[in-house]
Amino acid sequence: MNAVQGQEAPHRPVLYQETIQYLTAKNAKRFLDCTAGAGGHSEGLLRESSPDSELIALDLDPTAIALSQERLKPFGNRAKVIKASYLEAPQVLQAQGWDGVDGILMDLGVSSMQFDQGERGFSFRFDAPLDMRFDPNKGQSASDLVNGLSESELAQIIWEYGEEKYSRRIAKAIVQARPLYSTFELAEIVRKAVGKTREQQDPATRTFQALRIAVNDELNVISQAVPNLIELLQTNGRIAIISFHSLEDRIVKNVFRQASTDCICPPEKLICDCGHVATVKVLTKRPITASEDELQTNPRSRSARLRIAQKL
Ligand SMILES: C[S@@+](CC[C@H](N)C(=O)[O-])C[C@H]1O[C@@H](n2cnc3c(N)ncnc32)[C@H](O)[C@@H]1O
Repeated sequence: MNAVQGQEAPHRPVLYQETIQYLTAKNAKRFLDCTAGAGGHSEGLLRESSPDSELIALDLDPTAIALSQERLKPFGNRAKVIKASYLEAPQVLQAQGWDGVDGILMDLGVSSMQFDQGERGFSFRFDAPLDMRFDPNKGQSASDLVNGLSESELAQIIWEYGEEKYSRRIAKAIVQARPLYSTFELAEIVRKAVGKTREQQDPATRTFQALRIAVNDELNVISQAVPNLIELLQTNGRIAIISFHSLEDRIVKNVFRQASTDCICPPEKLICDCGHVATVKVLTKRPITASEDELQTNPRSRSARLRIAQKL
C-alpha cells in the first residue's frame, strides 16, 4: 500500500495505513469521509480502492473544503467535497442520490492547518481573536463563551473537557479579567492562575482544549451523529472513528457497544422487552493506537485511538 507521506501537505493523516486497510477491504465502493481536513485520508481511500469507487467528503471549515477539493481534483467525478456537518450526512447522501455507503471515516478533533492558522484562535502560539469555531461563520465563538458564561459554567467546562484540576481557580481569574478577546490574554490569565508547575506542557493547553470542545459542542455532536452514521452503512460496510480525547473515545466505545448488543434492558430486568437488535459487530476489541514508527514521525498520533465496527 502506498502511504500518503503528507510531508508537503498541511496536515498529516494519523493511523493512515490502518484506517485505509480496514475501510477498503470487502471490495468497498462508496465512502463517506465525515471530516475531510486536508483530504489525506480521502485521497488514500480513493487510491487504494477499486478504480470505480466514489467518495463524499464533508467538513465545516471552508479552508479544509478548499484544500481537499484541490487535493481530490485528480479523481474527477469520483470525489465530491461538500461543506456540511457530519450531523447532516443522511440528508447530504440523499441529495446525492446515495442510498448507503460501504465505508465511513470520522477523524475527530482539530487539523494541523486549524492550529497553524493563527487567526482561527485555536492556538495560543499566535495572538488572535478567541474564536475556535470549526465553521467560522456559525455559532458562538470562544470569546462569546469566555465573556458570557457564569464562573461556575466556565469551571465546569474547563474541568470536564479539559480535565483540569485548577478549573475553579482559572474560571475565577477569567471572570475577574473579562472582557477578554485574544488568545494571548486568555493564555496569560490561565498561566497566572495555575502558577508555577513542573509540567512540560503549557498550562493553557487544557483550558484551550476545553473551550474548543465547548464552542463546537463536540461531544454532543459525536454522540448524536454516530448512531445515524451506522444507519447509513450497507451490510458489511465499516465505520472507522479516530478520536484524540478520552471522552470522545468513551462515547464511540459506548455507541459501538450498544449497537453491537441484542438486548439493552437494564440488568434487573429478567425478561427482555427492549426489542433492541444488534446492527454491528465491533472489529476492534481494544482501540488501535499509533505504531512506534508513527509516534516518531508524527507527534499528533500520540493520543489517537481508532475503533472500527462492521454492519451486520
Ligand atoms: C483531524 S481533521 C481531519 C483530517 C483529515 N482526516 C485529513 O486526512 O486531512 C478534523 C476535521 O474535522 C472537521 N470537523 C469538525 N467537526 C465537524 C463536523 N461536525 N462536521 C464536519 N466536519 C467537522 C474539522 O473542521 C477538521 O477539518
